[in-house]
Amino acid sequence: MGLKDLFEVVAIERQSYHKPWSFFLFLNELKDNEYADYVVLKNDNCVIGYGGMWNFYQYSHITNIAVAPIFRQKGNGTIILKALLEKSRAKGVKRITLEVRTTNQAALQMYKKMGFNPVGIKKNYYEDEDALLMSLTFLKDYH
Ligand SMILES: CC(C)(COP(=O)(O)OP(=O)(O)OC[C@H]1O[C@@H](n2cnc3c(N)ncnc32)[C@H](O)[C@@H]1OP(=O)(O)O)[C@@H](O)C(=O)NCCC(=O)NCCS
Repeated sequence: MGLKDLFEVVAIERQSYHKPWSFFLFLNELKDNEYADYVVLKNDNCVIGYGGMWNFYQYSHITNIAVAPIFRQKGNGTIILKALLEKSRAKGVKRITLEVRTTNQAALQMYKKMGFNPVGIKKNYYEDEDALLMSLTFLKDYH
């Protein structure tokens, strides 16, 4: 993800999340967060999805993954998730975590298919809903 992608990313973010990140939050991630790593997926030179994570030495945390509504259920979310996993594995990361709304069936299924396991509940994490904390350990859950 580069600065030139940000307007398209924020448009998808707004269509995808109850509390979307702002343009400036993404800008800060790209410019000032040395732990952040973001990718975009493009079709015909247009951004159709993106994902990001924070890498802390042997540990990564996925911050967001979203696909533009008309490009969903076509394998694009899986492509983005795999790209993040491959990047973190290449950095020597051992374990990767994420939070997901307990009712977000699409995301839950995608993460389970990829090898993530539920490891805990964060009560009222989203204010209106709990989060399920999921974790994937390289070598054990993903090869
Ligand atoms: C979650 C999201 C990224 C998935 O993207 P996608 O491109 O539709 O994902 P894929 O096509 O790769 O689907 C992967 C798996 O997820 C599951 N899945 C996807 N959409 C689903 C749906 N609407 N209902 C149930 N399962 C679904 C399926 O198991 C699917 O595997 P299959 O195609 O073999 O059946 C997309 O729905 C999205 O952008 N949602 C809004 C943002 C969001 O909730 N992000 C996650 C925050 S934690």
